[in-house]
Amino acid sequence: MTRGDADSSRARVGPVAPVLELHGVRAGYGQIEVLHGVDLSVAAGEVLALFGPNGAGKTTTLGVCSGQIRPSAGSVRLMGTMVNGARPHALARAGVCLIPEGRGIFPNLTVRENLRMATYSGVAYARVEERAFEQFPRLAERRTQLAGTLSGGEQQMLAISRGLATDPALLLLDELSMGLAPMIVAELYERVGEMAAAGLSILIVEQFAQSVLGVADRAAVMLGGRVQQVGEPESIAAALGGAYLDGH
Ligand SMILES: Nc1ncnc2c1ncn2[C@@H]1O[C@H](COP(=O)(O)OP(=O)(O)O)[C@@H](O)[C@H]1O
Ligand SMILES: [Mg+2]
Repeated sequence: MTRGDADSSRARVGPVAPVLELHGVRAGYGQIEVLHGVDLSVAAGEVLALFGPNGAGKTTTLGVCSGQIRPSAGSVRLMGTMVNGARPHALARAGVCLIPEGRGIFPNLTVRENLRMATYSGVAYARVEERAFEQFPRLAERRTQLAGTLSGGEQQMLAISRGLATDPALLLLDELSMGLAPMIVAELYERVGEMAAAGLSILIVEQFAQSVLGVADRAAVMLGGRVQQVGEPESIAAALGGAYLDGH
């Protein structure tokens, strides 16, 4: 259903391949198949929100996109190139950055030390810190604090800063809003909107979060291991109705 809208989406002008394209992807854990043929695409510069209830397969989908889970069928393309079975570090090098559920920061290291982890990719530390503190001034005030003692929102800021340090082409965000106050979520999504405006392609996974609607170009609904619906964020939100609105 996304094939026909080449003229209506600003990000789809011209012959540029989608940054990410999943077609008929099947994947799971051991003998248990969780994704039963997932079709999904993120165009260059696009923000796609992927909604769905707990257990729908959203995190598994991001696992496939970031190389942690190998699909058993279908294709995963990154900027037009098949990357089925590519390892996580190879995909990271190719520009894929996953901010996992639970943020993936090191609680027993300071803010600074966490940021320093991003320099393995060869980027200069001063540059990493400059960008992080410019984007999230609150991190600057807490640079020597242990990451585990930051608030949930600050931990998310740190995780995003660390991810962006490697200059990714595609950002995968898993339940950014989980456990955070609505005001913090709104602030984080404001920053996400700025990243998108700067040209980053973003796939956002949430059960549902009102504040995503303002930054998403399109939204999709995943249920039972398949993408059931793709469309304008507002129409998808309306279609979801009261099914699992979180009140944010
Ligand atoms: N490591 C795992 N081993 C076995 N089953 C898993 C694992 N992770 C997730 N699952 C199962 O896969 C299904 C989809 O999970 P997940 O992708 O995490 O959904 P979501 O992120 O939408 O909540 C669920 O039924 C879940 O129990
Ligand atoms: Mg999940």
